[in-house]
Amino acid sequence: MENILGGKLFKQVTVAKENLLRDLRLREGKHISKFYRMSKMLGAGSFGDVWMCVQRETGAHRAVKVTKSKIFENKEKDAPKNVLEMQDEDESTAASQELKNEIRILCQLDHPNVVRIHESFQDDHHTYIVLEICKGGELNDEMQIRGKFSEDDVAKLMRQVLSCINYLHNKNIAHRDLKPENILLENNKDLSQIKVADFGTAIQWDPKNKQPFKEKVGTLIYMAPEVFTGSYSEKCDIWSCGVLMYKLLSTRFPFEGEDEVTLRQKLTVGEFDLTSSEWSSVKPDLKDLLKGMLQTNPDKRLTADEAVNHAFFKRKPTDALVIDIDKSKMKKKQLEEVESGAIIKGALTNFLQFSAKSKAKISIYSYFTSELLSKAELNIITSVFKELDKDGDGVLKYRELMDSYKKYAPELAGEFEQKGNGLLKMVNLGCRRPGNLDDYVSYSRFIMAAMKDSSMKMRMAASVRMSSSTSQTSLTS
Ligand SMILES: Nc1ncnc2c1ncn2[C@@H]1O[C@H](COP(=O)(O)OP(=O)(O)O)[C@@H](O)[C@H]1O
Ligand SMILES: [Mg+2]
Repeated sequence: MENILGGKLFKQVTVAKENLLRDLRLREGKHISKFYRMSKMLGAGSFGDVWMCVQRETGAHRAVKVTKSKIFENKEKDAPKNVLEMQDEDESTAASQELKNEIRILCQLDHPNVVRIHESFQDDHHTYIVLEICKGGELNDEMQIRGKFSEDDVAKLMRQVLSCINYLHNKNIAHRDLKPENILLENNKDLSQIKVADFGTAIQWDPKNKQPFKEKVGTLIYMAPEVFTGSYSEKCDIWSCGVLMYKLLSTRFPFEGEDEVTLRQKLTVGEFDLTSSEWSSVKPDLKDLLKGMLQTNPDKRLTADEAVNHAFFKRKPTDALVIDIDKSKMKKKQLEEVESGAIIKGALTNFLQFSAKSKAKISIYSYFTSELLSKAELNIITSVFKELDKDGDGVLKYRELMDSYKKYAPELAGEFEQKGNGLLKMVNLGCRRPGNLDDYVSYSRFIMAAMKDSSMKMRMAASVRMSSSTSQTSLTS
């Protein structure tokens, strides 16, 4: 531990997510290429390209969004204390506003279906946002390959998207550009782990003084009718989800128009087909959900919470173990654990035994979970998290944890009841969020606490070894 605290790694540990922008300023002059090696291009965006890159120190693969624009035009020394306190500068270009917005919002998000931000850099011409990589590409490409999706696959996908939207709306954030190009697959062809990306046009509202959104942003064919009128709310995201879901099931859009005028005419009438022969085999609960999401009147449209808790997503008997994970690359032992349910019990046991009484230890643990956990390990615990998050709001409430202990590890339920609030407080130590720290646990904190302690320690040790060998290499080269 001394090694870590005294060495290079501690500097990284202390860079909290909220300070990513400050980190960006501090690193001004230190080129991203010192930390990452660029590899192949992953996608093209409106303001720049996204590349795969490899972290030099750890060999980890990441994605980096490169934009030909700088966040800070002048090199003032005083960095903002907190990314959330950043003021928009008048002279900023549209691209730099979008970038700032994207970083500011991503830094607040911690959900299994939101692409995670790692850090950001700036040089004389570009800003770089380093993100978790999704190697499976865009949902859009998968839709072109597959054509129609089965109802089970639609349920699998849409529950994740809606869980993300429910989480965002609870945080007073609307995405405003939901479409299959911005939904990424973690692994090729695998629908069990998707990530929502591209928060450039997302918006956060003030709950004490909520004003309608005015900007006409998003992608025409996925835009809710009220967006065209210039006065709308977060319900625009539900509409986009409805359009996406319709397209997944039929390969067609519910409302089509070559231009804005014809599309708006269709939207004013508000009729879409659910009766033709291709819809005859689609079950009524699914049609009911589509109707609820594609209500032209936003007041009558389902909320994200109502949508994710709709009967369509509850088709599976609640007692069934629905751990949903790509099993193709799993080791035999892991597969047995997943299939027998032992994996959930193991995670709940680790969670109960989690012990870290200081903020420093917690920040080291959370650094290691976010930076060094392998994708395979992360995917397994993520699938447990999703299984336990029954109401799909992207956090585990005390009640959900209690129910999980009763269901999957009844012999531990008493101990959890005893430790419950204190345990949650400890796991959440240092979290900066409104409300009590013993009400719920967020995604990354659950992952941190549910990881096997021994596995965490092994990774720490390996990383320290790697770090010292890297510094030796650079000294000798
Ligand atoms: N984390 C990521 N992992 C893999 N590919 C990504 C990642 N982020 C973005 N991409 C690819 O780059 C494209 C553009 O990124 P996006 O954030 O949507 O930028 P823009 O705001 O310009 O549309 C995406 O549609 C996707 O193909
Ligand atoms: Mg995009």
